[in-house]
Amino acid sequence: MSARIDITLTVNGERVSRSVEARRHLIDFLRIDLGLTGSHAGCEHGVCGACTVRVDGEIVRGCLVLAASLDGAEVTTIEGLTDTGEVADLQEAFVARNAAQCGFCSPGMVIAAADILRHHPEASRAEIREHLSGNYCRCTGYQAIVDAVESTLATRREGAR
Ligand code: FES
Ligand code: FES
Repeated sequence: MSARIDITLTVNGERVSRSVEARRHLIDFLRIDLGLTGSHAGCEHGVCGACTVRVDGEIVRGCLVLAASLDGAEVTTIEGLTDTGEVADLQEAFVARNAAQCGFCSPGMVIAAADILRHHPEASRAEIREHLSGNYCRCTGYQAIVDAVESTLATRREGAR
C-alpha cells in the first residue's frame, strides 16, 4: 500500500484538504478526487498539453506534477478560469472562429492562451504559435486557434488605448 500525504491547497479559490497517495498526479487529483473533469488527461507523459492548469500563476502540466507536492499551492483549472470571466472574450473568439472542434484540447489550450493574454500582450502571430506549441490539437490545424488568440489580443490592446 502506498503512503498517503495530507495536503491543503486552494483550488479555484476554494480551500481543499485531502489525504492523497504519494504518487497521485495533479490531473488525477483534480479529475477523480475533486470531480473537476474540465482538465483532460491525454498522453499522461507531458507531451500533449491537454492537462494544462495554472499553479501559483504559472502554467504546468497536471500529469507531471504530484499532488503531494502542492501543499499550500494555488491551483486554477479551466472551471475556475471561466467562472471568473477572465477569458470570456477569448471563449467568444474561439466560438466565432470554430477554434474548438472535438474540444479535447480546448481547456488546456485556453489556459495556455490565457497565459499569453496575461504576460505577452504584444505577442506576434509567430510568438502565439510558438507559445501554444506544447498544446496539441488534432482537429483545427491551429489556424483558427491562433486567429482567436490574435484577435483577442488586438481587441484588448484597442480597449486599453
Ligand atoms: S496529459 Fe499531460 S501533457 Fe498530455
Ligand atoms: S479541437 Fe480536437 S484536438 Fe483540438
